[in-house]
Amino acid sequence: MTDNSTCTTERPAGDPVSAFTSLAGLGPQSAGAYGPGASFAVLPPRRAGMGRQEPLPAEYRTLSDDELDQRIAQARAHLGDRLVILGHHYQRDEIIRFADFRGDSFKLSQLAAERHDAEYIVFCGVHFMAESADILSAPHQQVILPNLTAGCSMADMANLEDVEECWDTLTEVCGDRTIPVTYMNSAADLKAFCGENGGIVCTSSNAPALVRWAMARGQRVLFFPDEHLGRNTAHRLGIGREVVWNPRLALGDNTAEALRAAKIVLWKGFCSVHDRFTTAQIAQARADYPDVRVIVHPECRREVVAAADLDGSTEVIIQAIEAAPPGTTWAVGTEVNLVRRLAAEHPDQQIFCLDPIVCPCSTMYRIHPAYLCWVLENLVEGRVVNQVSVDPRTRYWSQVALERMLELGN
Ligand code: 13P
Ligand code: SF4
Repeated sequence: MTDNSTCTTERPAGDPVSAFTSLAGLGPQSAGAYGPGASFAVLPPRRAGMGRQEPLPAEYRTLSDDELDQRIAQARAHLGDRLVILGHHYQRDEIIRFADFRGDSFKLSQLAAERHDAEYIVFCGVHFMAESADILSAPHQQVILPNLTAGCSMADMANLEDVEECWDTLTEVCGDRTIPVTYMNSAADLKAFCGENGGIVCTSSNAPALVRWAMARGQRVLFFPDEHLGRNTAHRLGIGREVVWNPRLALGDNTAEALRAAKIVLWKGFCSVHDRFTTAQIAQARADYPDVRVIVHPECRREVVAAADLDGSTEVIIQAIEAAPPGTTWAVGTEVNLVRRLAAEHPDQQIFCLDPIVCPCSTMYRIHPAYLCWVLENLVEGRVVNQVSVDPRTRYWSQVALERMLELGN
């Protein structure tokens, strides 16, 4: 078994948002009280956390890449229609080749909501995606994340306790209605918070439509946990008067007056992978390749999105490149596993990562074929390991928020 992960997405020391725990893969998902007036009081309290990852049995650590491939294929064939494997675009090729479906966060959540035939959904992605699949799946289905420590550093930057505190403060200081919108990249309890408080979940592909939906329902939007996606979306919709909320400081580091005037409140969170892309890299790409098309993910900083030719979710990036004529040159600002796959699949185009020191998403990378092999062989033996299961109360309200999103579409 080989693993060439060399680059971490660790948060730089001294950053004010201390909840970053991606490398441990066990983010502090809040166990805070759910707040008064919950109309679903018969359900037990939320269960917090990501579950415990058992050590990978020694046998799997010594298997060669070929042996892993063979055993995964065998287990998959044995399970047949009882199994569906979903793979996010950032997964490595050795995983993606076994995915029945691949997609961005929106497409994968749609698939989980629609494909109720398989007994097991093995989700090759990160924890918040597997949670969403569990919420949207049918009761007879079980969702499995091959490595439970595959979290998301951005999702860890907002927890329920801090978001509730922010929302309560906004309600108190502003005396009007703030609609919470959470990016898909968040724990299930935050999605539930949105469901219960008239809000919604969005993904990178539908953020503009869903923020517009939210703006029509209140005086302002509280957008978490990605400051950059929030700002890029606000810019696209022409929403001015934004403020940034730093959960470590009083009033989020704002004046009461600024909060009252704000139309959108952006949580101070970011993706460590997309934060690496810069306008200097874009300038360099344009100098090196005058005809280059620059396409970036909207988790990149505002100035990077502004300097690019196009921006969009992983699915949008793929579609743009698929639609381009041979001979097109692309500089792509997103995770490198996807960029390398696009380059291999489109040899008639020149495709490279905008960041010359390419960096994979270290948590997506935790889904190693050895883990996939281990969970599948356990399923063959009738054992479910690494199930992701959201407690009933959280499930109820997060389903409300996710279904609002699916109804509105992209
Ligand atoms: P997409 O929804 O664009 O696939 O994004 C998911 C993600 O985690 C990007 O960092
Ligand atoms: Fe999270 Fe960024 Fe990795 Fe996406 S690329 S899963 S936002 S750390």
